[in-house]
Amino acid sequence: MAWGGPVAAVFLCLWQLSAGIQWLGLQESSGPVAWNESQHCRLLNGLVPEQIQLCRRNLELMPTIIRAAQETKASCQGSFADMRWNCSSIEQAPNLSPDLLKGTRESAFVYALAAAAVSHSIARSCASGELPTCSCGTVPDDIPDSSFRWGGCGDNLHYGLQMGSAFTDAPMKSRKAGMQASKLMNLHNNAVGRQALVDSLETKCKCHGISGSCSVKTCWKGLQDLGTIAQELKVKYLGAIKVILRHMGLRKQLVPKELDMRPVREVELVYLSSSPDYCTKNPKVGSQGTQDRQCRKSSVGSDSCNLMCCGRGYNTYTQILLERCQCKYHWCCYVTCKKCERTVERYVCK
Ligand SMILES: *[C@@H]1O[C@H](CO)[C@@H](O)[C@H](O)[C@H]1NC(C)=O
Ligand SMILES: *[C@@H]1O[C@H](CO)[C@@H](O)[C@H](O)[C@H]1NC(C)=O
Repeated sequence: MAWGGPVAAVFLCLWQLSAGIQWLGLQESSGPVAWNESQHCRLLNGLVPEQIQLCRRNLELMPTIIRAAQETKASCQGSFADMRWNCSSIEQAPNLSPDLLKGTRESAFVYALAAAAVSHSIARSCASGELPTCSCGTVPDDIPDSSFRWGGCGDNLHYGLQMGSAFTDAPMKSRKAGMQASKLMNLHNNAVGRQALVDSLETKCKCHGISGSCSVKTCWKGLQDLGTIAQELKVKYLGAIKVILRHMGLRKQLVPKELDMRPVREVELVYLSSSPDYCTKNPKVGSQGTQDRQCRKSSVGSDSCNLMCCGRGYNTYTQILLERCQCKYHWCCYVTCKKCERTVERYVCK
């Protein structure tokens, strides 16, 4: 086959589409790096030139961003464990399969989650004193009542949003960024993720006073855990809106395909191409299929054997679990247990 124009063009285009979340492949591949020299930025996999620039200028942020990549993978897989598409392909980053390249609903979720994760992680690192360039978040002016005072160290959401968006939006703002529609889609979904993060900010308090009477409280603004934010985003994933690119006056904008007279809202995830049903294995569309996946016979949700196995049926296995049981407390101070066997049934898709 001639290695010519059209083939190279397709390749380039795929690379450009994928570059937006290739940084999820960040790993401390070369062992613990001290992050004190800007050459370290070149050791990193999956960064676009603009992100390498950011890395050089903000070396101290990199351990936090690497942690955000790991947290993105874990919370994506955690929140999709009961779905046919279970986020396993994210492990291959920076090499991504079509489910995360083609402007699908699944990629919308992952972009939003990854954008939220980076800002979350930076905001928390500020509060824990890990970063020399920021500290606790600002304290609100209002004092709701006299038993209440602001104190502690709140997550620095402001700095997290500022540095997080600079990093996660960089691939789409790059001169070489891919097609306009997917660029706009990715930027929009990143913003939706960050908005979910902003919405998760809550007041957390610690009680003081005589024997836990809570007559005085010290409170600060803290973010909810990434797992909780991932659950919020999963709801948005289920209600995601298919969009197309339209000329609106002089600008091009994404508008809902069905109701195309209104612009998309900051709270909705958007996607450009429909996903396969992920029932059967098909690498061309990024589907791993659900053969050998576990399902739940008693469930009526997405992990029920009927839905998970796409009507193909399932095999039943019995598994014997060894557990501690009939535990006795002995004065003083130890516990003895017997070992009991318990049989459980497992259901696995055909
Ligand atoms: C960076 O840290 C390493 C290990 O602590 C040290 O050997 C190296 O000299 C440091 N480089 C600079 C530029 O400070
Ligand atoms: C996700 O699905 C794939 C493909 O069916 C399977 O190999 C993998 O074990 C699943 N992962 C989890 C965490 O269930």
